[in-house]
Amino acid sequence: MHFSRLNNVWWGFLVWYCALASVAATTAPVISDITADLVSSVGDDIEFNCTVENVGRMSVSWAKRTSEIGSVVLSMRSILSLSDPRYTIVETLDDKANRATYTFKITKIESTDMGVYECQVILTATDKITKKLSLSIKHPAIISEERTPKSMLVTEGQNLEVNCYADGFPQPTISWERENRAIMPAGGTNSEGHTLRIKEAHRLDRGGYYCIASNGVGQPDRRLIRIEVEFRPQISVQRPKIAQMLNHAAELECTVQAYPAPAVFWYRNGSKLQSNSNYQISNTASSHEATTSVLRISSINELDFGDYYCNATNKLGHADARLHLFQPVIPVPSM
Ligand SMILES: *[C@@H]1O[C@H](CO)[C@@H](O)[C@H](O)[C@H]1NC(C)=O
Ligand SMILES: *[C@@H]1O[C@H](CO)[C@@H](O)[C@H](O)[C@H]1NC(C)=O
Ligand SMILES: *[C@@H]1O[C@H](CO)[C@@H](O)[C@H](O)[C@H]1NC(C)=O
Repeated sequence: MHFSRLNNVWWGFLVWYCALASVAATTAPVISDITADLVSSVGDDIEFNCTVENVGRMSVSWAKRTSEIGSVVLSMRSILSLSDPRYTIVETLDDKANRATYTFKITKIESTDMGVYECQVILTATDKITKKLSLSIKHPAIISEERTPKSMLVTEGQNLEVNCYADGFPQPTISWERENRAIMPAGGTNSEGHTLRIKEAHRLDRGGYYCIASNGVGQPDRRLIRIEVEFRPQISVQRPKIAQMLNHAAELECTVQAYPAPAVFWYRNGSKLQSNSNYQISNTASSHEATTSVLRISSINELDFGDYYCNATNKLGHADARLHLFQPVIPVPSM
């Protein structure tokens, strides 16, 4: 009697426990499988799956994240809640296993389709289980207008860093080349990485540099960046000594290398020379960084013999050169 009573209690407990376990097993839905993250190209057709065990009559949705917290519901079980002709939802039921797979299909992928897609099983008004996947869309490398300069300025001897950034998926790689395939400041014909570094810039480093962004999707993007190297004037004189006879014309010439373009003036006996009936001064840019200045004396008089200075100035400094005009000694023919 005593024994059988205990047995009854034991059996009662066991039955209650098994019932509880089986209720839990049949009612708790589980997202057992979701398609892994996808990478797709514009124009492709894709599909992704969410498989739910113990699905019962649960509401299973696909939603797309619109922000950190917000999302828009695309489908509920086998019904699209957002009508887009590119969307299809397919529900594959396995009643025996109490399992369902929800296949969401998108045709003719557009770049706006990228983002996070979430499979949601609504449990109660405040409770749901979710799993997500992210869809990335390949798009070609595009160099960023705002984050990449059109031109840069550096003072000779200083270091320069030029940055070039590009958007695209996959992440583009950046390389650099010089215009006309000139040798790079650091040697070689190209360099890698989004920062171009020029150590102790030299005036010969000036010119056009191409930033090239590529990610294997479409054509690489390129952008020409102009680099200017500022340097103080440097004067060269071909003929520092000019011999000419009285009443003849003479030309004094100096060539100034400088950037920015220098102001060039001629001085004689401490005072600046102006163009007048006897002197004509002309400054011509002979190349991007060279200015040739010519002082022409139309008819030499006694006082014109002597020293002349060609002075050049830009914001980085000053240079000058002395030229000497003298009367040649005419050999007297011997009789
Ligand atoms: C999605 O599920 C369906 C049905 O089970 C299957 O035919 C298809 O291959 C699955 N697709 C992916 C991308 O897993
Ligand atoms: C140079 O200037 C000084 C002082 O102004 C003047 O006396 C002299 O005659 C000038 N010489 C010439 C060659 O112009
Ligand atoms: C021009 O150069 C000469 C020679 O160095 C110098 O004496 C003179 O001061 C310079 N003039 C100016 C305005 O810089």
